[in-house]
Amino acid sequence: MRRAILLCMLAAGCGTEVKTASKHAVEHRVGERVSLGSPSLTTGVPGQGPLSKPDIEAWLADSARHSPLKFVLPKHLHAAADQVFVEPSNLLTRAKIELGRQLFFDHRLGAMSCADCHQPRQAFSANQFFPDTGLSPLAAFNRILGRRQFWNGKAESLEDQPRFPVDNIFEMNTSPDRIVKTLAGIPGYRMQFDSIFGGVSFKAYSQALACFQRALVTGPSAYDLHMSLAEYLDRDEAGIDEAERPEWRRLRELAKSTEFSASARRGAELFFSERIGCAECHSGPNFTDEDFHNIGVGLERPDPGLGRYLVTKQESDRGAFKTPTLRNVAVTSPYMHDGSFARLSEVILHFDRGGVPNPQLSPLMKPLGLGRQEREDLVAFLKSLTSPLPPVNEARLPAD
Ligand code: HEC
Ligand code: HEC
Repeated sequence: MRRAILLCMLAAGCGTEVKTASKHAVEHRVGERVSLGSPSLTTGVPGQGPLSKPDIEAWLADSARHSPLKFVLPKHLHAAADQVFVEPSNLLTRAKIELGRQLFFDHRLGAMSCADCHQPRQAFSANQFFPDTGLSPLAAFNRILGRRQFWNGKAESLEDQPRFPVDNIFEMNTSPDRIVKTLAGIPGYRMQFDSIFGGVSFKAYSQALACFQRALVTGPSAYDLHMSLAEYLDRDEAGIDEAERPEWRRLRELAKSTEFSASARRGAELFFSERIGCAECHSGPNFTDEDFHNIGVGLERPDPGLGRYLVTKQESDRGAFKTPTLRNVAVTSPYMHDGSFARLSEVILHFDRGGVPNPQLSPLMKPLGLGRQEREDLVAFLKSLTSPLPPVNEARLPAD
């Protein structure tokens, strides 16, 4: 626990600015400084109703919207700055994020929209298991903190990801060519693709979607407010930088009205303890190492998932799946890649048993000998990780 608090305190104090440009040595004109999660990135072109041509013309005419953003992560995610991955050829701009938002919600592009399975009201996931694909959805937030996508990491980046749901007959059930044709036939989209990417293409479609998803970061949870930000919130106003004061006041008010129970506090201590070791894999501010582990899930089924093995063909990766984020886990049931558990208490029992033995079981899995109160405390802690997400306009799309 102590290690985690220290990490978070450092994070809260440091105000790291994420410098993707210098990291990848890309020359560009840097635009305004903005905190990811800011509503201004995801609430759409100002105004009401379907997007008309004049709306889009006015939106695209402002050159600032085409300049790469100099972004910072919100306070409770600062410590993850070194996990940020942005394709150097696809820097974030307001114009791309906004186009990605439209594409994410648009039903005209396939049998389903991305948002049908990644619903803003359900933390960009779905409280549902998809029997046809045999997989439970992963949440589409904080994806800027990871490179490989999917339970087995088969997509090398967010830019590489859309081709999978697009082609899947149980998902969007269409093709890259058909998507490009549809987009080219909707004047509002054509104008945006021409202006931002020099034309409509599946690559540009995927890039815009990646930018939108990189802007979806979680707000502070009860855990963040009461533990990680304790140091920051305890400082008196005089010790806070002028520019940070509005945010500091907002967080302080939020913390007052957010309950972090004694049980959740004990659960946090267990979670980060060496004895229980959850944070060995669910590490960092997004509670995931973005790596793949076999924790013995679904082995009782006749066709246990091969997981990462399908991508690497390494025997040791058989049954290894990506560590999912635990943020908002209370609202993203069912759990595990195959949806095998409906409740968090069942997940805790699985870990308490040390998973299901198999030749590739992670050496980090061991019987934990948790008492009943301890199991309840862990669940209370997991529930304290629920947090607001950026408000998103779902309806403002280009007119036919
Ligand atoms: C039919 C439901 C469905 C649709 C439609 C769908 N997804 Fe998903 N999504 C899933 C499922 C299920 C998974 C996990 C599948 C896997 O790992 O193989 C997933 C995984 C993802 C991930 C990986 C997250 C991570 O942590 O690795 C991202 C990102 C994502 N989807 C974005 C999108 C986008 C963008 C679209 C639209 C182009 C889309 N999805 C359409 C169900 C869906
Ligand atoms: C060896 C690494 C590892 C350790 C240690 C570990 N986890 Fe996990 N956890 C994972 C992986 C990998 C998955 C997904 C496995 C799958 O779907 O096959 C997962 C899944 C979960 C889920 C389900 C999330 C979802 O969205 O489906 C929860 C909740 C969870 N872990 C909590 C915990 C807790 C609490 C502990 C400590 C008692 C813990 N984990 C220890 C790797 C780990």
